[in-house]
Amino acid sequence: MAKSDQLQKLNEAAQFIRSKTALKPQVGLVLGSGLGSFVEKMQVEVSLPFHEIPHFGSVSVEGHRGQLIFGTVSGVPVIAQQGRLHYYEGHSIDSVIFPVRLMGHLGVETLILTNSAGGLGDGMRPGDFMVIEDHINLTGNNPLIGANIKELGPRFPDMSEAYDRQLLGKMAQVFQKMNIALHKGVYAGVLGPSYETPAEVRFLKQIGCSAVGMSTVFETIAANHMGMKVAGLSCITNLAAGLSSQKLNHQEVTDTAKRVEMTFGQALSNFVSEI
Ligand code: HPA
Repeated sequence: MAKSDQLQKLNEAAQFIRSKTALKPQVGLVLGSGLGSFVEKMQVEVSLPFHEIPHFGSVSVEGHRGQLIFGTVSGVPVIAQQGRLHYYEGHSIDSVIFPVRLMGHLGVETLILTNSAGGLGDGMRPGDFMVIEDHINLTGNNPLIGANIKELGPRFPDMSEAYDRQLLGKMAQVFQKMNIALHKGVYAGVLGPSYETPAEVRFLKQIGCSAVGMSTVFETIAANHMGMKVAGLSCITNLAAGLSSQKLNHQEVTDTAKRVEMTFGQALSNFVSEI
C-alpha cells in the first residue's frame, strides 16, 4: 500500500462503513488472541467481516476471528476489532495499522489495545493482567516511516505519554473494584513469530520490561500520531522463555487466554462504561 493512497483507502473504507451503520464510535478496542469475549457485553448493531471491508487484510492466526463489530456498551458507542493483523504473518506494516487508523478516521478518541504477552515481572503468573504504562519498541521498525500523511498527524509525533495516564488510573480503579490484582509495567514489542530466547528474556528484564509480545506497539504509534488516547491491557498468558521449566507453545497462550477471557471481557466493559 503506497503512502500516497493510504488516505484514499481510509476514505473508501470509512464510506463503506458509513453505508452500513450510522453509529459514531467514541471508543475503539483491539481484542487480542482469544480475548474476544468483550463482544458478548456489547449491544451489537452490525458485524463486518474484515474481507468485506475495502482494503482490509485477512487474519490467519488460530484464536483470531477477523471482524469489526459496531455497537454500544452502557450506552457508549464502540467499535471492537476482533482479531488483529500481525506483522509476522507477512502483512505490510500499513495493513497492520489500517484498522486503528480507520477507527481514528471514524472519530474514535480513545483506543484500548489488548494483547497476550509473556510475563517477565516478579510475581507474575499465567492468567494475570497487566496495564501497560509504557512500551519499548524493539521491532526495529516504525509504521510512520515514509512520507508523512499530514492529514493524519505530525512528522515527529510526541510519545511522552503514549499510554494515557488518566486512562491508566481508571483501569487500576476498575480492577480494584472487581478485586482483581493488576500489574503495571512496560511492554516490550518484538516482531516474532519465534518466541524469545532465555538470553533475550534476561535482556528485556534488565532494560525494565515487565511483559513481552508481538503486537500493539505499531498500533500505539499510529494512534498517538492521530492524537488518540491509548490504554493498553495485557493478559499474561505464560511466563517468558527460561522463567519456568516449561517450553513455550501457542497452545498454552490460547488456553490461558480462554481461561480468563470472561473476566477480561467484564473488566473491559466496566472500563468502557467509566470512560
Ligand atoms: N513472547 C512473545 N509474545 C507472546 C508471549 C511470549 O512469551 N506470550 C504471548 N505472546
